[in-house]
Amino acid sequence: VWESFKPKLGRPNLRTKSQLKPQASSFKVAVLGAAGGVGQPLALLIKMSPLVSAVHLYDIANVKGIAADLNHCNTPARVLDFTGESELASSLEGVDVVVIPAGIPQKPGMTCDDLFNVNANIVKSLMEAVADNAPDAFIHIISNPVNSTVPVAAEVLKQKGVYDPKKLFGVTTLDVVRASTFVAQKKHLKLIDVSVPVIGGHDGITILPLLSKTRPSVTFTDGEVEELTVRLQNAGTELVEGKAGAGSATLSMAYAAARFVESSLRALDGDGDVYECSFVQSDLTELPFFASRVKLSRKGVEAVIPSDLQGLTDYEAKALEALKPELKASIEKGVSFVHKQT
Ligand code: NAI
Repeated sequence: VWESFKPKLGRPNLRTKSQLKPQASSFKVAVLGAAGGVGQPLALLIKMSPLVSAVHLYDIANVKGIAADLNHCNTPARVLDFTGESELASSLEGVDVVVIPAGIPQKPGMTCDDLFNVNANIVKSLMEAVADNAPDAFIHIISNPVNSTVPVAAEVLKQKGVYDPKKLFGVTTLDVVRASTFVAQKKHLKLIDVSVPVIGGHDGITILPLLSKTRPSVTFTDGEVEELTVRLQNAGTELVEGKAGAGSATLSMAYAAARFVESSLRALDGDGDVYECSFVQSDLTELPFFASRVKLSRKGVEAVIPSDLQGLTDYEAKALEALKPELKASIEKGVSFVHKQT
């Protein structure tokens, strides 16, 4: 299972020292919003990681039974439960990675942006606790709209004087997972070998797969590029409509989020060959936050990979310019949400 999590976004997948040595299970991961459709399968997948010693489940809904259920699995990590605001601070004590899938999911007819008011408040209050209790942790934001909730999180951390831009991540891994799947299906490739960088943001046209940079190298007709790009941009909506009011992506999201957690833990463990796409503070474009490939290290984002924006096709270059105003507005919405309240 874990082999399939190792993304092929960086250099060829050479085995590094840390992958060859026996892995100590030493990292602690907190999941805030752990009782939800994303939170529960995500907690299960994290519990299966050989790098994890403890999984802390936090939710306003009761997570005691979920933790007991998971603790019956004979993998080494211990699962601890924390229910309700009075236990939030303890859930964050000593954790290396905080993952936030708390909030309402999309319903048919809603865009990610429609979730803003509810989820921005949830993310803001959770981030205040993270700033106070786990300021050095890697923070993974899943709650949508990621294009705005990541700036919300950044502003809260700034206000608390603990903002480290290298450690705040918007989780866009599901876009990368989907892009690889759709391309492999279209081109009849072996799925595990395909990687497609996805840049920009995490909603509608802000999601831009760089199909020209697919590995292994593949050629696409103009029609295929258009079809695959639009399918990826609408993949979330396709699921929301399929689930007919019962929520949005949960299982594939949990899979993608667990892969991002595993990559973060490998980086924290000293693996020098970890690359993922993520929505982070960035100077790649004029926008303050931007999703692109990043190299991860113990300190968080060691570098964004500028070469991804070089040599774009005309289609990609135009799509990049077209997404910027929407992404800019979503980022500003997140920033001003926090400032209006203070
Ligand atoms: P869900 O409704 O099944 O679960 C949400 C959980 O959050 C519930 O257990 C709820 O009790 C909890 N919660 C609400 N307020 C909370 C608070 N203040 N503190 C702690 N927990 C709180 O929703 P689901 O399907 O798990 O989705 C969660 C979020 O993930 C949504 O915002 C959704 O849009 C987002 N999402 C993001 C994706 C991405 O690619 N980044 C993909 C799929 C979903």
